[in-house]
Amino acid sequence: MLEEKISGIRAQLDAAIAEAKNPSDIEAIRVQYLGKKGLVTDLMKELKDVPNDQKKEYGQKINVIKKEAEDKIKEAIAAIAKKAEEELVNSAEQYDITMPVDFTGEGSYHPITLVQREVEEVFASMGFTIEDYLEIVDDYKCFEALNIPKHHPARDMQDTYYLDNGQLLKTHTSAAQNAIMRKYGAPLRAVFPGRCFRNENTDACHENTFFQMEGMMIDENISISNLIYFMKTMLSEVFKQDIKVRLRPGFFPFVEPGFELDISCLICGGEGCPSCKNSGWLELCPCGMIHPNVLKAGGIDTDKYTGFAFGLGLTRLAMMRYGIKDIRDLNSGNLKVLDQFKNI
Ligand code: PHE
Repeated sequence: MLEEKISGIRAQLDAAIAEAKNPSDIEAIRVQYLGKKGLVTDLMKELKDVPNDQKKEYGQKINVIKKEAEDKIKEAIAAIAKKAEEELVNSAEQYDITMPVDFTGEGSYHPITLVQREVEEVFASMGFTIEDYLEIVDDYKCFEALNIPKHHPARDMQDTYYLDNGQLLKTHTSAAQNAIMRKYGAPLRAVFPGRCFRNENTDACHENTFFQMEGMMIDENISISNLIYFMKTMLSEVFKQDIKVRLRPGFFPFVEPGFELDISCLICGGEGCPSCKNSGWLELCPCGMIHPNVLKAGGIDTDKYTGFAFGLGLTRLAMMRYGIKDIRDLNSGNLKVLDQFKNI
């Protein structure tokens, strides 16, 4: 009687598995046989009505078919996954990796690299060194050394991506200020370009990944006029024309006083367009006199030295320089965008 039932179940199971086409078919089979009210489970329930002297044998037989059903279902899942993978491979575009490659196509520099090099050259000619710095930094370097204590509201503007170990992707190139002050001491003149990250919703003028170029000059008697002079010289060299700028007060905990240096939007000529949020002006270079707390954190003698710092938006500068309307084109990896810079 039991034997018959078991061989009936086995035949039915084999037929069902042979028909199954996808993981959900298999799942239905698993429920039908091994689920709470499944056919194999039902056999177990019958065990209580079996005479005691036959229980052991009965139990063993059920265990065999149960294990058999489990194994067959597992195999079927693996077979279906393998088949799906094979289909995917066969349907994908085929490449012949032994084909000769045409290496004659010329590459190009990314527009941000082009602008970065230009600006570096201008600053190098004014005696600035060019520094490299990390992309992953700690909270101290990115915020605390810059006079932004924990829970300071200024942090809200710079939400970023935190790693499990507490480090973070730097939100601004200012994160390198402390290390560079400690490396060189005063006097110093340095620019340091770098990739920055913020947790932003993207639009034509915001990206979660962008480039800045930070600059610092620390010496005796450095004042705001030095800052303005260097900014104006740099911008007129880069744009090779007179650029309208305006200076507004701006708040950053690591400078005092702080400013926003805006340039008249070169895409719309100051009329207003999506690239400048219709204001006609583009925030290009926040700057200011380095806050004494920041100098102190960098080991600089604040009785003797003062300095200025600026954070030039390199990505914005590249957009202005080359009339790129949407910031997202710059990170898109689209060769049609890059191809336009071949001969520059
Ligand atoms: N680090 C600031 C930012 O990214 C910009 C800045 C740099 C402001 C240097 C003042 C001085 O928002």
